[in-house]
Amino acid sequence: MKNQNFNQLRSKAVRKIEKSAIVEILRVINQPGMISLAGGLPAPETFPTKIIEKLASLVIKKYGSLAFQYGPTEGLKPLREALVSFLKEKGVETTFENIGIVSGSQQFLDLIARVFINPSDYIAVEAPTYIGAVDAFSPYQPKFLEIKTDKEGILPSDLEKKLKQKKVKFLYLVSTFQNPTGRTMSEKRRKEVAKVIKKFNLLTIEDDPYGSLRYFGKSPLPLQVFAPKQTVYLSTFSKILSPGLRIGFYVAPKEVFRLINIAKQTVDLHTNSFSQLIAAEYLLTGDFKNHLPKIIEIYKKRQEAMLEALEKYFPKDFSWTKPEGGMFIWVEGPKNFDSVKTYWQAVEKKVAYVPGCYFFVKQGQGKNTFRLNFTNVSEEKISEAIKRLSEVIKKNI
Ligand SMILES: Cc1ncc(COP(=O)(O)O)c(C=O)c1O
Repeated sequence: MKNQNFNQLRSKAVRKIEKSAIVEILRVINQPGMISLAGGLPAPETFPTKIIEKLASLVIKKYGSLAFQYGPTEGLKPLREALVSFLKEKGVETTFENIGIVSGSQQFLDLIARVFINPSDYIAVEAPTYIGAVDAFSPYQPKFLEIKTDKEGILPSDLEKKLKQKKVKFLYLVSTFQNPTGRTMSEKRRKEVAKVIKKFNLLTIEDDPYGSLRYFGKSPLPLQVFAPKQTVYLSTFSKILSPGLRIGFYVAPKEVFRLINIAKQTVDLHTNSFSQLIAAEYLLTGDFKNHLPKIIEIYKKRQEAMLEALEKYFPKDFSWTKPEGGMFIWVEGPKNFDSVKTYWQAVEKKVAYVPGCYFFVKQGQGKNTFRLNFTNVSEEKISEAIKRLSEVIKKNI
């Protein structure tokens, strides 16, 4: 038989993923000497490896075969129970039955799409939005409806207007220290958005991976608190423990919980049991409470270094967000600034960032913007990178 060309057998969805321009642009960030402000990785020095070593043997002693056997799809009870008080401190009141464990919050984004999206269904997202969510939803072939935003997140009036025009399956947003802008929706805005969500009984996914990484100020209550019957609250251990353990969790309205669970069962049966119990004990032993301030101390200094360097080196007609936490700063240049063109010149000077246009679902937006990550590079390197970047930018405006 003639050799089969498997490339030709690829599904349309896979062809689309392969062509993603952002994959192409980020190919260069691992070049030697590159200071990459492009990624969104936690700093490896924040991983509590000593604590994990201790918890690993504790888990084996305390739970025995539970850590290694197949488990329930919705997650192991010790973790779901430990999360009740973790969530309560954030303002989310729930019982363990409504908490599900997923293999990273990214898995939930696939599951929610799998359960709800038919081709051509409308999904509402922020402009700009977390591109990983768009990538997770896209294989199910939805149409994206961008909701206008300002400094406080989506505009309730625009959400309402779009909901009147189109039948939307669900709304996806990152409410605190958003990826990519770093922006946080104020509590007042959350209440206004919740009002619209309730009026239209709109299923809403509130993705909150960064809320615990707060360096200043006070946390607003989650959006979920103001519309609990419509809103899924989604979070993760990736930024407060380790992304490699792949533990995400969600609180969902009963019917949604059931559907997600059915979908998850067919995908991976359940999330890694050993990781789940490590995460449970991280909360139960108090190690999380002791360790979080150490992560915050590292990131707060890096964020300060980036803001100081931007102030010192960047041209005056550039502005940027000053988030009270999270991992990202969003920069906006003058109208004529082209962040994609500048990107390739920056790469030659060994600095990388992500051009802003890649975070919009509709083409032609964000040309003069870009995202900077400050968590995975030392303060000295951040300062050096911003200096180099400013020199490249000055040649381009
Ligand atoms: C907004 C947002 N949601 C979800 C994820 C995925 O996180 P996880 O490691 O829990 O899958 C990320 C990762 O960077 C993110 O920025």
